[in-house]
Order: sequence, then structure tokens, then C-alpha cells
Amino acid sequence: MKSSLYLVTGGSQGLGRSIVLQLLKQNHKVISLARTSIPKRDLSDNVKNLIQLKIDFSQNFQKKLTSTLKKIPSTKLEEVFLINNAGIIEPVDRIENLKTDQVERHLKINLLAPIIMSQIFLSVFAKVPQKTIVQITSGAATRPVEGWAVYCSGKAGLDMFNEVLALQHQNDNNFKAIGYSPGIMDTAMQTKIRSTTAKQFPDVAEFKKYKTEKQLRSTDYVAADLLSIINDPTNLKSGQVYRVK
Ligand SMILES: NC(=O)c1ccc[n+]([C@@H]2O[C@H](COP(=O)([O-])OP(=O)(O)OC[C@H]3O[C@@H](n4cnc5c(N)ncnc54)[C@H](OP(=O)(O)O)[C@@H]3O)[C@@H](O)[C@H]2O)c1
Repeated sequence: MKSSLYLVTGGSQGLGRSIVLQLLKQNHKVISLARTSIPKRDLSDNVKNLIQLKIDFSQNFQKKLTSTLKKIPSTKLEEVFLINNAGIIEPVDRIENLKTDQVERHLKINLLAPIIMSQIFLSVFAKVPQKTIVQITSGAATRPVEGWAVYCSGKAGLDMFNEVLALQHQNDNNFKAIGYSPGIMDTAMQTKIRSTTAKQFPDVAEFKKYKTEKQLRSTDYVAADLLSIINDPTNLKSGQVYRVK
């Protein structure tokens, strides 16, 4: 097995948590970055391989995180992965009702943080031979959803960032940048979506139906699908958005 390290943002809950737990099961080294941690009682496999860093992506984190990551011995690493997964849905509302501070906070977490995380990753792990960056995107990046103006805009921005990242490294087969669209999953984000009003989000009834009709995928299923895709980085098509199978 190659000596690898995985950085997963939003590893405390939902999809990120499933990714972290599956990576630990596969005996990989993982750094999870979120405001909260996975409690010890929920960790069983290879706990020593996990570092949980408390980070709030709505705040400035660049300097502190860079110096923390620089202390991690990386000379023996053969490959590193960054999975930019942390994200929020709110504010969900008509555009005239949006509040500047909520819009700012959203874009800091969903767009600015993945860009800064990519910058930190590329500079701190510059000497690691194989590098892969995954941006967790959404169907809402390419499909306008009424009420989700900020979310759609952030994810569309992230898709373009992914393309530029890939373009910058087009002659480097040891660097891959991909997007991954996980489909609808049974997480806290979906609970928040279902709690909105039809005025804020006209499609809310349809999303309630996804839950009652059990159409939401489990995060364990989606995490396994994503990990099978990035398992062999040499065959990844940089710049592409992969969708859950
Ligand atoms: N659920 C879906 O149906 C769906 C569909 C398409 C795309 N996605 C995308 O999939 C990704 C994961 O979503 P999910 O459904 O798993 O969400 P989730 O269950 O709500 O989990 C979100 C994760 O992001 C972290 N996070 C939120 N705010 C943060 C902040 N200020 N600083 C640091 N971390 C923060 C949370 O950790 P803490 O609370 O501990 O900070 C948590 O670990 C997101 O990018 C989302 O846009 C989800």
C-alpha cells in the first residue's frame, strides 16, 4: 500500500464523516477539518491514524492551518488527497430577502474555503509526488433552483475553480483535480432543506417526498462510490465532474 494522507473538510457529519470512517477502515491516514469532532465512541478502526482539527471555515484560518500542517512529517508520503466537502445550504430564500452577512458567511464556507484549502494543500504538500483535489459539488451548480441563489452560485463557482485548477496542471499527470456530485443524501443538510417554507423554496414539497419515499442515498453508499473513483488517481480525468453511480 502507498503511503497516503487524506484531508477531508466537514469530516464530522454527513458525507464527510462516512468518508473519514471508510478511509480509517482502509487503514489510511486522515485529517478531518470541521468545527466539531467525531466522538471517540463512534470511532473504532485505526483511531491512531486520525487527526481532527477544529476549524471554522467562516473565519480566517489560512495562517494557522498552514503552520499546523507544515508540522506534519510529509517527506515519506507518496500521495495526498484533499476532499473539499464542508458545505452549508442556508440562506434559502427569495433574493430580495437575503441578508448580506448570511450571503458572506455562506460563500466563505462553500467557495472561499475550498479555494484557500487548495492553496494551502498545494503549497504545504508541494513535494509529495501524487496529489489529488476533489471538490464536492452539486447538481445545483449547473441547474438553477429557485430559493437557492447563493448555494447554486457558490457551487457553480467551485466547478469553475476545479476547471482552472485542472488547467493549471494540465501537463502534470501526477496532479488531478476533479469535482464530485453526490446526488441527494440523507443528511442534516436535507433536514434543513425540508424545514424551509414554500415561499422560500417552492420545491420544498418535492424534497419532503424524497425523504418519505426513501429516495435519499445513504452517505455510506456515496462515500464508497467516491473512494472507488479516486482509488486510482492516474486514471482520473482532471477537470471533470464525476457523478454518483
Ligand atoms: N445532502 C445532500 O443531499 C447534498 C446534495 C448535493 C451536494 N451536497 C454537498 O455534499 C457536501 C456534504 O454535505 P452533507 O449533506 O454531508 O452536509 P452536512 O451533513 O450538513 O455536513 C456538513 C459538514 O460541513 C461542516 N461545516 C459546516 N459549516 C462549517 C464551518 N463553518 N466550518 C467548518 N466546517 C463546517 C460540518 O461540520 P461542523 O458542523 O462540525 O463544523 C459538517 O461536517 C456539501 O458540500 C454539500 O453541498 C449535499
